[in-house]
Amino acid sequence: MTIRYIDDMQLTGKRVFIRVDFNVPLEGRRITDDTRIREALPTIQKALDLGGKVILASHLGRPKGVEPKLSLEPAASRLSELLGGKHEVILADDCVGDGVRKLVKDQKEGQVLMLENLRFHKEEEANDEAFARELASFADVYINDAFGTAHRAHASTAGMVPHVKEKGAGLLMRKELEYLGGAIKNPAKPFVAILGGSKVSDKIKVIESLLPKVDALLIGGAMAYTFLKSQGIEVGKSRVEEDKLSMATRLLEAAQRLKTSLVLPIDHICSTELGDKGPLREVPDRAIPADLIGLDIGPKTRAMYAEHIRNAKTVVWNGPMGMFEVERYAAGTRAVAEAMVANKNAVTIVGGGDSAAAVNEMGLGVKLSHVSTGGGASLEFLEGRELPGVKALETK
Ligand code: 3PG
Repeated sequence: MTIRYIDDMQLTGKRVFIRVDFNVPLEGRRITDDTRIREALPTIQKALDLGGKVILASHLGRPKGVEPKLSLEPAASRLSELLGGKHEVILADDCVGDGVRKLVKDQKEGQVLMLENLRFHKEEEANDEAFARELASFADVYINDAFGTAHRAHASTAGMVPHVKEKGAGLLMRKELEYLGGAIKNPAKPFVAILGGSKVSDKIKVIESLLPKVDALLIGGAMAYTFLKSQGIEVGKSRVEEDKLSMATRLLEAAQRLKTSLVLPIDHICSTELGDKGPLREVPDRAIPADLIGLDIGPKTRAMYAEHIRNAKTVVWNGPMGMFEVERYAAGTRAVAEAMVANKNAVTIVGGGDSAAAVNEMGLGVKLSHVSTGGGASLEFLEGRELPGVKALETK
């Protein structure tokens, strides 16, 4: 199975439908992180350079019907700025219908036509055949550059694809598949994975998939307390998923059988309360006193994890090490990011979501080999699952 890429296609005069993921965080109408738009630029620019008439489509949020506050208007304005005002960006008031058909028909070379939020129509997520065919009717060529949405089998990521004459992937999609795919299929060793976040339940499949591949798997975030408790270690008032204790034990046993180190924190930063109010307590042991809540990994754990990262040739990280959004619990997450930046001999990859937001906020994302634009998508990819949006692009 192979995938064609946009830079290998003949696009002159063709209508090129590019599925992008402009599902960006908004405060009101202000975009607080435009990474996903900037990351789509090389593909959009390539399509324009190759003489294609670019039609962009994306979802934004999870609207129930038409919700004006989830219009793609802020994304269209930001895109226009990022294109340096060299290309007119026209935002259609819908993504299907006669108005859109006319805009497509009248589109001039060099103009970028952006369709309104695909999820204003429930048919998008339902992968409705008629809706998919209508989207397909606008295009000669279909390009998917929306890695962040590739785990969804929706009309714009899956259903419409067979109805367009030519199909291929964009440059962001290629970068994502090369880095994440390289790490799980052919990693340079030692291969170290770091997994954090609050829930073991979100990460069970990714742990199961990575354990046989990695040399060490380092655990942080609240999910560490479920692992510690499953070993009979006292974790005080820390967040624990009681119904996942036996699963945590099974994962630790699987690691032992595979001779993979599954490494848990050996000290903690705690408080009596969540947020930034209660007293800050450094607990120098694995066990957490009964009145405390674990909120970050401690200094000994930071040093130990940094040492693992220093010796690695491939590092994949998904999920923060603590409650990083509160500055005094951000040290663990920052230590992991800095250790990855310091290792110039390794391929360093951040698998999307909160950890990607954290490294970008720290200004460290650009110093890593790759920061994925996919949250759920990168997790599913690391779980070894086939992504419908990628599968749809394959040709024999
Ligand atoms: C994301 O932000 O993970 C993607 O844009 C997919 O969005 P969704 O989870 O609403 O499908």
